[in-house]
Amino acid sequence: MTQRYLRLGVNIDHVATIRNARGGGHPDPVRAARQAAAAGADGITAHLREDRRHISDDDIRRLIESIELPLNFEMAATGEMLKIALQHRPHAACIVPEKRQEVTTEGGLDAAGGASALRPYCDQLADAGIRVSLFIDPDRIQLEAARALGAPVVELHTGAYCGAFIEDMNGARAKAELARIVAAAALAEELGLECHAGHGLTFDSVKPVAAIPSILELNIGHFLVGEAIYVGLEAAIKRMRNIMDQARSDGLGARIA
Ligand code: PXP
Repeated sequence: MTQRYLRLGVNIDHVATIRNARGGGHPDPVRAARQAAAAGADGITAHLREDRRHISDDDIRRLIESIELPLNFEMAATGEMLKIALQHRPHAACIVPEKRQEVTTEGGLDAAGGASALRPYCDQLADAGIRVSLFIDPDRIQLEAARALGAPVVELHTGAYCGAFIEDMNGARAKAELARIVAAAALAEELGLECHAGHGLTFDSVKPVAAIPSILELNIGHFLVGEAIYVGLEAAIKRMRNIMDQARSDGLGARIA
């Protein structure tokens, strides 16, 4: 089987988090997006949260107007976000669950339980030519629901795996969480869904995930912005890109499965 290219989507939300800590315009997530492009990112991801805690409406407008890379617009399934997506028509919209009190996106979307509420969002985004992705936990029932909703893409939530990996990278829990991702990625392929993954990935935890052959895109943000403090954003992204490419060609995922 030929090895498929693994895209890197760089999530720039936390550049905006730092900017917003003081107000004003520095650091600018749009400048970070340009640097990400120069460093080899294949796409830019930005989450416009209901409370606008990091990315702002104006950031989305400027990203759409000035960035050549495809924009993956992360959004909750709300009327307000749908309107903004339809106005800007990003390359892709990734529907995520959103709770106002959470620190970050905890757990995946309940595509199975919430199918009837999600359907009009999926349909209207697709009708506007926006590629719909659903951010789900690596579970069969959620993958099947995503397929029934007609979403062409799923993004598997890697948060549980990354949390277990930090605790003990060789522990039973990390292995079990990775096995869930491996199985879900294989099932996504069987169901004809393009499979992406992300949340909490680091230089170390990315390796086994990057090696899973049916995963075609990883979206990574917080760790890269944190590393940028030490080595600069371009260097952090280049290193992540190299690690992903190396893991892909080593095929670690197949061995672990
Ligand atoms: N993918 C999705 C759908 C997300 O919501 C996030 C976090 O905003 C990420 C990927 C990136 O996660 P992290 O910032 O932990 O790398």
